[in-house]
Amino acid sequence: MATLRIPDKSVTLRDPSTMREFLDTRGIIYEQWSADRDLPCGATNEHVLAAYASLLKPLMDKGGYQTADVVYIDGDTPNLAVIREKFLREHTHTEDEVRVFLEGQGIFWFHKEGRDDEVFALLCEQGDLISVPADTKHWFDLGDPPRVRAIRIFTDQAGWVPHYTNSGIDQRYRW
Ligand SMILES: [Fe+2]
Repeated sequence: MATLRIPDKSVTLRDPSTMREFLDTRGIIYEQWSADRDLPCGATNEHVLAAYASLLKPLMDKGGYQTADVVYIDGDTPNLAVIREKFLREHTHTEDEVRVFLEGQGIFWFHKEGRDDEVFALLCEQGDLISVPADTKHWFDLGDPPRVRAIRIFTDQAGWVPHYTNSGIDQRYRW
């Protein structure tokens, strides 16, 4: 179950429908899956995708997404520092960033500009699905200690590269 924080207002939300409404009005899709499939010990990424195929297919058909894969990151992941840094700075993508958290956690930070600049964060855990629309300013914190298993869904995997804003705003916030 996710937790949403708005640090500048000292607000913390945990009610799913309240979080969904908050995110929906900002164009961010948030849903919950029952991410509790029985998987064999040492399940491969293919096993994971097959186990969730009945949930994935409607989502992918609806969003026009083409591919999905599974990522697992923990303290033993090679090049962990590089991976962490890559997404810890504010960036955008030219396509949606869609993730379903199966284990562990990760924090998406969002920066919405407008009449009232706004920064908020969503701590995602098992069963949380989030879709960050293309061109949304955001960054991602693996947390400490890092551990996450998530399904990633792409329109075009090549489009999922970070375009850094170099605003430095990511330095001003910690969960
Ligand atoms: Fe991203």
